[in-house]
Amino acid sequence: MKQKISKMKILSVVGARPNFMKVAPIIEAIKAHNAAKPKAKIDHVLVHTGQHYDESMSDSFFRDLKLPKPDRYLGVGSASHAVQTAEVMKKFEAVLAEDKPDVVIVVGDVNSTVACALVASKFTYGDSGKKPLIAHVEAGLRSFDRTMPEELNRIVTDHLSDYLFVTEKSGIENLRNEGIDPKKVHFVGNTMIDTMIRFKPQAAKSQILGDLGIAENGIPSKNRNKRGALKPYALLTLHRPSNVDNPDTFNEIIHALKDVTRSMPIIFPVHPRTIANMNGGQLKGRFHFVAGKYAKTGEAQILEKQKTGLQPGINVVKPLGYLDFLQMMMNARIVLTDSGGIQEETTCLGVPCVTIRENTERPVTVEQGTNLLAGVNRRAIKRACKTQIESKRKSTRPKFWDGKAAHRIIKMLSRV
Ligand code: UD1
Repeated sequence: MKQKISKMKILSVVGARPNFMKVAPIIEAIKAHNAAKPKAKIDHVLVHTGQHYDESMSDSFFRDLKLPKPDRYLGVGSASHAVQTAEVMKKFEAVLAEDKPDVVIVVGDVNSTVACALVASKFTYGDSGKKPLIAHVEAGLRSFDRTMPEELNRIVTDHLSDYLFVTEKSGIENLRNEGIDPKKVHFVGNTMIDTMIRFKPQAAKSQILGDLGIAENGIPSKNRNKRGALKPYALLTLHRPSNVDNPDTFNEIIHALKDVTRSMPIIFPVHPRTIANMNGGQLKGRFHFVAGKYAKTGEAQILEKQKTGLQPGINVVKPLGYLDFLQMMMNARIVLTDSGGIQEETTCLGVPCVTIRENTERPVTVEQGTNLLAGVNRRAIKRACKTQIESKRKSTRPKFWDGKAAHRIIKMLSRV
């Protein structure tokens, strides 16, 4: 008689750029589980909502992170919050009806995360009454700023989830304060850091520093003392609606960075939402658009102005792939950002980071890491940049940011 093979089905959702690196190690952990326990295999379905859809925001991440082709692509694209969320919900309901997973994994805090969690929470399979369980990876983070769409997405997703996988201690406390049953909460670490640890050696081979003329010999020497070959630079990312949609705030931030540009060029891989406000008003002429391999393409006005090589000032390049961006972070003198994930990555890399926001949902990066919260006021940003440029690199690893978070998650879910 054939032995019964029990199979469970896990469906993971990706939608926007920061989701890809959080799901990649979960897929690897499922593969490892299946190799170790062939009699208790997990089937995996990868769903891409298509919230981010173009080469630089999505496709290049699938290649760099060796992600499998999505089993389901929902193609929702860009729209207002309501339309985008609703489109994901409509299409995801049909996927659930067909795939009937035991567990739906959602990650982070983007519109696709909350949309799929909401659909799964109300869905039952036929008359059986059976429902998918919802697992939220990166649960419990709170900025306590409800003007951020991500904060609303985080709160709703956490309250709908059956498994809340937390990256840092503050998450446990926040969930307790919101009355969430502690039995649902599991402190597992950070899957985004799993990915960073896995891909660091490959990122170190990226040619981007040579291509941009930062490293004379192409890639920087392993011997840190020989860093003469590597010119100092600052790396900037900005895409929070509160920073870039309002031209006055955006202008204030860009002005604040003048002091940094006196000592080193800034390299600014520009997010599609940010570019819209860069070419007019008070910001006209404040950026150099770099020509060549990393050039931002598309807008005719920008194409006309592109120059080869880095210029003193703020140098705009296209949104970078995962490996190129990691290489840029690893070797930057300072990273200036309003991203959430970059605060965590720079903490582990030991690279000084200035967060251009009034709050952070990732306090461990300030308490233990290299992150300094500057706010968006010109004087405060200048002060924070000066402090960080003068500070030394110090790498710290918050608890469980050890490359094994996804394994902990799959170990727990495999017992469901
Ligand atoms: C989204 C997430 C944010 C995350 C960010 C990372 C929400 C509410 N926000 O913000 O948490 O930090 O992704 O990038 O989910 N666009 C393209 N190509 C693409 C995707 C978008 O050109 O592949 C453009 C569109 O013109 C769109 C704009 O970028 O209007 C914004 O995209 P959207 O997904 O709505 O939000 P993000 O600002 O990227």
